Amino acid sequence: MPFVTRKSLFAMTLTTIVAVLLLAGFIWSGIYNIGADDPHYRPVLATLQSLRENSIRARSKDLKVPNLDDEARVLKGAGQYAAMCTGCHLAPGMKESEIRPGLYPQPPELAKVRLDPRDTFWVIKHGIKMSGMPAWGASHDDDTIWSIVAFVHKLPDLTPAQYKAIVAKAPPDDDMDMGSAADDHDAMPMPAYDAAASKAQPPSQ
Ligand code: HEC
Repeated sequence: MPFVTRKSLFAMTLTTIVAVLLLAGFIWSGIYNIGADDPHYRPVLATLQSLRENSIRARSKDLKVPNLDDEARVLKGAGQYAAMCTGCHLAPGMKESEIRPGLYPQPPELAKVRLDPRDTFWVIKHGIKMSGMPAWGASHDDDTIWSIVAFVHKLPDLTPAQYKAIVAKAPPDDDMDMGSAADDHDAMPMPAYDAAASKAQPPSQ
């Protein structure tokens, strides 16, 4: 008698069709709550976390890490971090921000974790889908991203006073890799900035 009989093949096909229809119904019905204030069930969360970790590791494992103790690199990263990351990831001496409590997943406090520098580089450059973690590689070159990695690496060892001191010494965050015209964060097309700029211009019609 063959291992797969006609009857069992029919049953398997039927089960697959029913499963696909149920899944399609689930997606179309709107039953799923997409709200960021509705946490995942544990098994879903565990699955998503493994997916994230394995995906990042598979892509970061062959990266070559430059000297993360280079003082100029750390200092440059300090300015970048203070300008772009603290709202979501906080910093030594910072208790909370307005955006962080509502983010799901919650961004980790980078001063309280030790991460693999290659993973850190990859995540900063490429971001994480459907999480709020942006792909900073869209606006920053690799060298700048390694400087942020170098600083993030030092963060857990810094007291609030040391953090403040190093950020105060850091070069201003004016080295974005966005071409000469928009070579400054102040020139980024932020909504408030655009509104001000367009008011200042004569009407086009
Ligand atoms: C708008 C909010 C937001 C900003 C701004 C932001 N991040 Fe994130 N980041 C997140 C979220 C949310 C996660 C968690 C994603 C997840 O768990 O899947 C995250 C994850 C990370 C991780 C992975 C941590 C881990 O445990 O593996 C690193 C590293 C990181 N961010 C670095 C940065 C750096 C450096 C900056 C500034 C250049 C930055 N992020 C700016 C929201 C943000």
